[in-house]
Amino acid sequence: MSDLLLTGIGHLTTNAGEPMIDATVKIEGGSIVFVGRASDAPEQGDSALIECEGRAVIPGFADSHTHLVFAGDRAAEFSMKMAGASYADVAKSGGGILSTVAATREAAEEDLFQSAATRVRRMIAAGTTTVEIKSGYGLDLDTELLLLHVARRVGAELPVSVKTTFLGAHALPPEFRNDRNGYVDLVIEEMLPAAAPLADYCDVFVEEGAFSIEEARRIFAAAEGLGMRARVHAEQLTHSGGAALAAEIGAITADHLDHVTEEDAAALSAVGVVGVLVPGASYMMRSRQAPGPMLIEHGVTIALATDCNPGTSYFESMGPVISLAVVQMGLTTEQAVYAATRGGALALGMEEHGMVATGSVGDLVVLDAPSPAHIPYRPGSNLAWKTIKGGRIVAGGSGPG
Ligand code: NIG
Ligand code: FE
Repeated sequence: MSDLLLTGIGHLTTNAGEPMIDATVKIEGGSIVFVGRASDAPEQGDSALIECEGRAVIPGFADSHTHLVFAGDRAAEFSMKMAGASYADVAKSGGGILSTVAATREAAEEDLFQSAATRVRRMIAAGTTTVEIKSGYGLDLDTELLLLHVARRVGAELPVSVKTTFLGAHALPPEFRNDRNGYVDLVIEEMLPAAAPLADYCDVFVEEGAFSIEEARRIFAAAEGLGMRARVHAEQLTHSGGAALAAEIGAITADHLDHVTEEDAAALSAVGVVGVLVPGASYMMRSRQAPGPMLIEHGVTIALATDCNPGTSYFESMGPVISLAVVQMGLTTEQAVYAATRGGALALGMEEHGMVATGSVGDLVVLDAPSPAHIPYRPGSNLAWKTIKGGRIVAGGSGPG
């Protein structure tokens, strides 16, 4: 049954105006049909009932940047980095993106699916109702297609909305070590056309040591011809021009942005590129946080995401990400919760998600707390009391609690 009545909501974040106190929400056929005071609410009819007993409710989290389909284990690499190992040391010991590529190429589809599904189940239990999943740990035609297929399967078999992104230009695979142009040609001529039916978007890691602005411009032009809009890994480790490129080509998002400038921010704002910020990656790399408040001042819509990946940000839950955004980046709780819900939905072109308004999709989280301020304040607790996807309770049990 997807008809649900939530009563006794102490604090309701709608993302469509001021929060409501003492609110009721009704969901029918997967969509929100009523938001308001209990006295005006429609009858319960045969809907299921959740009595929230003063708890806060927010829209479901939309995690708009992950690399969560992978095999292998990089915990030892993490320990090395924490002990001071350099990028070169890590590469020499066989670590880095290419170690995940090697393990992923060896893995069977079922193992990739089961490990990805396990991560996504934990995400759902922590309040995520929409997730973006990138390829990028295959770097050959067959494995990249397999990763996109597994990502789509996660969306088909689990109660979560999934958007997929082709990230063939994540790193140069070992067999093309001495032939960059050959790999970029392969991405454009063979991988992109084959990936198009399985991918909603195309991403390129624009960075010294990854792909150049010129290479990215060529890849994004080909992707656009196939109907895939661009998401850009931009300004993560250095200022390399990825944000300006995102503005120039009208990308849907520019992601990371740790080294973004005011000039870039103005350009992103002018064309409506969403800035996807991933404070978990900066935290794990002991590097600077993206200037979230500056981006907001320039009118950039921002999203917060986990960047869930085995190398730089093995976060699955949005709560700690919101906490980092508030504590280390300087966002207010309201800005951070908006970015993790509505911002994430806009970063994925999902206009009908991330709001609590009549006609919006019925994706909600009931927090085991009286206000969303508890999310950044208690980063070690999973505060998702119940996760609701399209009016159905998908985590936290089906009873009144
Ligand atoms: O988002 N920036 C590039 N890709 C990932 C890291 C991937 C890895 O180390 O495996 C990121 O941080
Ligand atoms: Fe990333």
